[in-house]
Amino acid sequence: MSHNLLTVQGISKSYRSSFQDSICVFQNLNITVNQNEIVALLGPSGCGKTTLLNMIAGFEMPDTGEIYLEKQSVTGPGTNRGVVFQTPVLFPWLTVQENIAYGLNRRHISKKNQHEAVQEYLSLVHLNGFENYYPNELSGGMQQRAALARTLILHPQLLLMDEPFSALDPVLRFQMQQLVLSIWEKLKQTIIFVTHDIEEAMILADRIYIFGKCPMGILEERKVPSFTITSPFSSSLDSPEFIRTKKEIRNILFSCS
Ligand SMILES: Nc1ncnc2c1ncn2[C@@H]1O[C@H](COP(=O)(O)OP(=O)(O)OP(=O)(O)O)[C@@H](O)[C@H]1O
Ligand SMILES: [Mg+2]
Repeated sequence: MSHNLLTVQGISKSYRSSFQDSICVFQNLNITVNQNEIVALLGPSGCGKTTLLNMIAGFEMPDTGEIYLEKQSVTGPGTNRGVVFQTPVLFPWLTVQENIAYGLNRRHISKKNQHEAVQEYLSLVHLNGFENYYPNELSGGMQQRAALARTLILHPQLLLMDEPFSALDPVLRFQMQQLVLSIWEKLKQTIIFVTHDIEEAMILADRIYIFGKCPMGILEERKVPSFTITSPFSSSLDSPEFIRTKKEIRNILFSCS
């Protein structure tokens, strides 16, 4: 039985804006994530998904409440969390292998060990042969795979992914989802995956937190059956259980919009 890795306990967050006195994003929000789980945060634009992810990453602090990772209070960014953003964040002046090795270099890992690790993670994200390319010579999907390798190579306890595939075409997006699942099979990496796509959440996640419009917070938490979808033509996508679950989640999202 996997143990609790992350606890978000009773957090509230408001922003001051130039137009209104303040915008309340959450009030008393709670989530938990177990080790080795893939948890999706699903909700409409503006419901606070990125705000929550940023607080878990330690980029922002909640106004009240606490976030614990392995029972340690999160007070800022740390190497135990890795973030993959919607737009791949790569240094344009570094090659793919230099980008992937960047964090190892900062940790003063020997060149030989860096090289071995980079080869392993290049292969994990299917980028062998592209190690000497610069980011602007790669497609969006390849850039996102390089960004994923650069994060995974540092072995974060918790991987935070903020709508990483939303800019990709449907075929590539499906391939990237399969890549995430295959990486999970190998590394059993704990992941929080932000998306506004119901199918994406259902294909990837063990559990989904469904958010309503800001400041409603979490409307429902759902365990998702494991749908084995290995091709876009998979019959599981047409299975009564998949269609029913998707419809139920849709109804929850629409009931509050
Ligand atoms: N730095 C900020 N200053 C003021 N308001 C902010 C700030 N960041 C976010 N907000 C507000 O907080 C709310 C939640 O924003 P957030 O970016 O977390 O939403 P989201 O669910 O990630 O949306 P999307 O799916 O479009 O990325 C929005 O109303 C937004 O205007
Ligand atoms: Mg966002």
